[in-house]
Amino acid sequence: MCLKKDGGGKRTMRKILAAGMLLCVVTQSVCGCGRQQTEMEDQLHIGVAFYNQSDTFLDELGVCLKEQLQELETEDFETMMTIRDAAGSQRTQDDQVKELIDAGCNVLCVNLVDRADPSEIIDLAREKDVPIIFFNREPVAEDMMQWDQLYYVGADARQSGTMQGELAVDLIQNREQVDRNRDGKIQYVVLEGEAGHQDALLRTESAVDTLKSHGIVLEKLSYGIANWNRAQAQNRMLQMISQHQSKIELVLANNDDMALGAIDAYEKLNYTASALPVFLGIDGTEVGLEAVLQEKLAGTVYNDKEAQAEAIVNLAAALVLGEGMMEKMEFENERYIFCSYYKVTKDTVQNFLPQKKAY
Ligand code: GAL
Ligand code: CA
Repeated sequence: MCLKKDGGGKRTMRKILAAGMLLCVVTQSVCGCGRQQTEMEDQLHIGVAFYNQSDTFLDELGVCLKEQLQELETEDFETMMTIRDAAGSQRTQDDQVKELIDAGCNVLCVNLVDRADPSEIIDLAREKDVPIIFFNREPVAEDMMQWDQLYYVGADARQSGTMQGELAVDLIQNREQVDRNRDGKIQYVVLEGEAGHQDALLRTESAVDTLKSHGIVLEKLSYGIANWNRAQAQNRMLQMISQHQSKIELVLANNDDMALGAIDAYEKLNYTASALPVFLGIDGTEVGLEAVLQEKLAGTVYNDKEAQAEAIVNLAAALVLGEGMMEKMEFENERYIFCSYYKVTKDTVQNFLPQKKAY
């Protein structure tokens, strides 16, 4: 659950923070003792560790994190952010987290390279008592139990797949030409993100299940793993086209960059519009939304980076301000915050374009 997105969330958090600062100053001068007072800090220095900043969605999320943090800065509450990019190496990320702790960060925000391998980072943080907010790449549940100062902010992968499936159902039921060969089945391929990433497997599964549960008959022609990457997706798609030529009617991509890579492949081969499949993505990145606007991408699912950044930064502030502030946060399963996804089509894309986001 995230704070409200009408700007009220920010105002609310600022008020809560201001009240928290005041309360702490008062209690400190009255008794000057106890856990809350000793933990009270007037500075938030967030250390952010990205798995790979060349990832389009995460690059955009990084911009939102900086903006959100600036919103919290007041005369009495100083904010700072140090960012590191592991460029795909867990070993590099472990070293970077150590550097961030040594540099005095009082909260760590970690986008794990290997979501199954957070132990080293958890040990380093626990040793110096620096809480960790994992984001976007969800550690497995047992690892989240390693320490009580571990949190996760992200989104429900299954929801995004279901929404992508619903977008496909709507197109198939209302746009006869999706079933181009009119055999009553939809011939489809999937472009998948990294193997082992919660957003890859679950998105594919729930999109396909949603189509089936709406009575759509499917024929899976092929799939390709393209690691969220546009160039890799273009290559995978070229291979699939060479195998199946114009038989492919629907391309389900686990993210926008891969959907765009698939479109690139067809453009490279000079396919005419009438021979193109329908493409669906997830994320609503700037390039993804632009492609929806141009009707190249039939739809996408908005991965709410603004809400995720707001939740991460508010949680980070609450963690340094201590127990009183933490009570104001709303969690699922005690330490998880999941932000909702939203469907985007050519009819609604205007609401999601930068500066205009209105849902
Ligand atoms: C997903 C997102 C992908 C990619 C991935 C990285 O949530 O949809 O585009 O950024 O996270 O972990
Ligand atoms: Ca067909």
